[in-house]
Amino acid sequence: MSTMELKTMRAAAGMGDATGADWVSLNARQRCDEASEFEQELFKRIVAQDDAVMALSQIYQVYLAKMTLPSKPLGALLFLGPTGSGKTRSVEAAAEILFGDSYAMVKVDCAEFQHSHEISKLIGSPPGYLGHRETRPILSQEILDRFHTLQNKLTFVLFDEIEKASDALWQLLLGVLDKARITLGDNRVVDFSSCVIVMTSNLGAREMAEVTEGKVGFTRRFEAEPELDARIERIGVEAARRKFSPEFINRLDKIVVFRSLSEESLRRILDIEFQIVQRRALMSGGGNFVLSCAERAKDFLLAEGFDRRYGTRPLKRAIERHMVIPLSNLIATKQIDVGDVVYVDVDETGQELCFKKKPCSAVMEWTQSISGGRGGRGGSAQPLAA
Ligand SMILES: Nc1ncnc2c1ncn2[C@@H]1O[C@H](COP(=O)(O)OP(=O)(O)OP(=O)(O)O)[C@@H](O)[C@H]1O
Ligand SMILES: [Mg+2]
Repeated sequence: MSTMELKTMRAAAGMGDATGADWVSLNARQRCDEASEFEQELFKRIVAQDDAVMALSQIYQVYLAKMTLPSKPLGALLFLGPTGSGKTRSVEAAAEILFGDSYAMVKVDCAEFQHSHEISKLIGSPPGYLGHRETRPILSQEILDRFHTLQNKLTFVLFDEIEKASDALWQLLLGVLDKARITLGDNRVVDFSSCVIVMTSNLGAREMAEVTEGKVGFTRRFEAEPELDARIERIGVEAARRKFSPEFINRLDKIVVFRSLSEESLRRILDIEFQIVQRRALMSGGGNFVLSCAERAKDFLLAEGFDRRYGTRPLKRAIERHMVIPLSNLIATKQIDVGDVVYVDVDETGQELCFKKKPCSAVMEWTQSISGGRGGRGGSAQPLAA
């Protein structure tokens, strides 16, 4: 449609004054079905980081509306916040939902590119230079596009720990954010306009932890949660402004500050992790059993794995040590039979988890039905209980 035609249509519609009764109010916050489903799935996987979930689903909705620019990436987000709070996991979960695989993304660990010459691993070397042809660039168009499906032609590109990037990597990153283009060593141009660029950093995390734990200023107990959240957000954004250049900050769509996880959030994450352990057991082939867990056992794991400073990291270690390793021993020594219910509880000393089993005909039937369909392996079947 030409500009002239548009002007004529505007005049015919009597635009300029939208006060008449025939104007219908619109809801510019509504999500379409696909974006809403994506958001709900992210909420199921990511606990207590609503800003991150909504920033990702907003970008997905802009992608679905085809309102993106060819000269800009689909989105540019900076994730700040403490270790083990879900920064990397949020991107993995988004890839898992859209492409069925949490590895369906391009991940650049900036700590591996602290020297300028290492940039050739990302973009390849120019002709005539050592390594030309031998090193296949990580950021080639084929690699960016390899996970595309008919429905989703977008790519998540994660730059982890960007504060560790060398100057050369910064220049590259600025080019990606600014023009959605980089030129490889052999002069091929790579297009990033279908990419969601997510950068993560722990900048300001120590200061945020001090505030959360009430060591700075007024104490945690007396501070209302929204005020605390706003204060933590300010610390993150200020730390980013101090460290990064205005050119970089101005190219971001949003800075998302991840919160340190409360005990209640970790309890919800524990339930998600149980589902993951159950799925691991199903995928192992020898583990077609159903895991069931006493509340006492969950309390035990939380007590072992709660440390606000390190988020989920100690909790995940506690799950591996107290649950996954003993379960692996039980599977390897064939103490668990197909169709068993395995109950996890705390032993009488209160210092260890203990495991009991009971055959269950319902589980047996279910196991047989999925084995028939998948050649004896658990596939991605959902557990009956957690
Ligand atoms: N908010 C969360 N919701 C659900 N699971 C989480 C969350 N945060 C962390 N986890 C779990 O903890 C693991 C580690 O989290 P993740 O790798 O996302 O931490 P991070 O914030 O990127 O930390 P770092 O700054 O050290 O890289 C994840 O793989 C996931 O299993
Ligand atoms: Mg991370």
